[in-house]
Amino acid sequence: MHLLPLLLPLFALPTAYSWGAVGHEIVATIAQIHLHQPAQQALQHLLPNSKGHLAPIASWADRLRGLPYYSWSGELHYTSPLGDWPPSKCHFGDEGWKTTHDVLHAISNYTTRLSLDPSDVTSLKFLVHFIGDAHQPLHLTNRDRGGNDDRVRFEGRLMNLHSLWDGGFITKSVREQSNYTEALPSRQIESNLRGTIYDPYIRLLLWEGVRIWWRTSLPSWFICPSPLSLSSLSSSQLILSTAEDGEKLSSVVCPQTWAQETHKITCERTFPPSMGEEGEEHQVPELNTKEYYGPIRDGNIIEKLLVQGGLRLAATLNAIFEPEEDGEGVEGKGLLNFAWLEEAAAEGKQSERRVVELA
Ligand SMILES: *[C@@H]1O[C@H](CO)[C@@H](O)[C@H](O)[C@H]1NC(C)=O
Ligand SMILES: *[C@@H]1O[C@H](CO)[C@@H](O)[C@H](O)[C@H]1NC(C)=O
Repeated sequence: MHLLPLLLPLFALPTAYSWGAVGHEIVATIAQIHLHQPAQQALQHLLPNSKGHLAPIASWADRLRGLPYYSWSGELHYTSPLGDWPPSKCHFGDEGWKTTHDVLHAISNYTTRLSLDPSDVTSLKFLVHFIGDAHQPLHLTNRDRGGNDDRVRFEGRLMNLHSLWDGGFITKSVREQSNYTEALPSRQIESNLRGTIYDPYIRLLLWEGVRIWWRTSLPSWFICPSPLSLSSLSSSQLILSTAEDGEKLSSVVCPQTWAQETHKITCERTFPPSMGEEGEEHQVPELNTKEYYGPIRDGNIIEKLLVQGGLRLAATLNAIFEPEEDGEGVEGKGLLNFAWLEEAAAEGKQSERRVVELA
């Protein structure tokens, strides 16, 4: 414990506290695919350099935080629940927070700002990034500065625990993803892919993940506590209610609720028991093991977090950019543009019918 301050500079990597660029771009691309037309059109105006695509600006907030003028934004990338020391002590707000200048409040802050001023590009860029960060389990605990101070090995390579969750797992999956190199039968999906090395991985996340694995549980990802009961909740949700359409927004955007769920992963999966108790010395563990990495891989834990981040970002932007006159509210069209999923289901039924007719 006392040695820690001396050792810090050795492990403090510049990429500290963020999904790596690839994670953020995957989240942004999944969001892009699920935008309704009003949000798509708004982004065309806001982001002319990237032709309205979110991925090129998704890591902007990480590049910015190193600049002296923007150093205040550093702590907006994560949150520090007091008393939390996973896996032995799991607390997410019941003992309070180190500060409210954190990722949860930042999401509410920039959602509100963007909805009050839909031309506020800076708020858009922060929002895209922070919804991603809130889905990286090690952004939700203060133990060892979110794992930045813990050296680990993965497939023999030395890195810190935080960057393993930021990018290490994702890089491995992207590298080993040999299926889905061909275009999917969906213009909605394909026209938003950008010819990157992770395109096949995104196709897998949608075609198997959304369409099959999480199909039935997916609606539950979008349940926010009723705005009527807001007074009993933490202030991160209350900030939204200062926006004119705060009630509508807080029925879609609930960072506290999202993060509460992700923090279970922080608690159960991120710090291996071999890292010992507070202040205990331990060896640098290899984490590509059946015990540690096995359940993460087999449970598609990283994949689910990326998809949750992407779809929740899309729902947020759809709610923000929904035209006023659309009295139906976001519920009218659905939170998300799932046209591709409906087409795939219809196509599936048709080919079933063809098989039946042939038989
Ligand atoms: C809210 O946004 C403003 C403007 O960018 C910023 O100064 C402030 O630190 C933000 N607060 C939080 C909690 O995000
Ligand atoms: C690719 O698809 C085949 C056949 O469905 C499957 O057995 C294999 O595990 C898949 N590979 C990857 C890396 O997903």
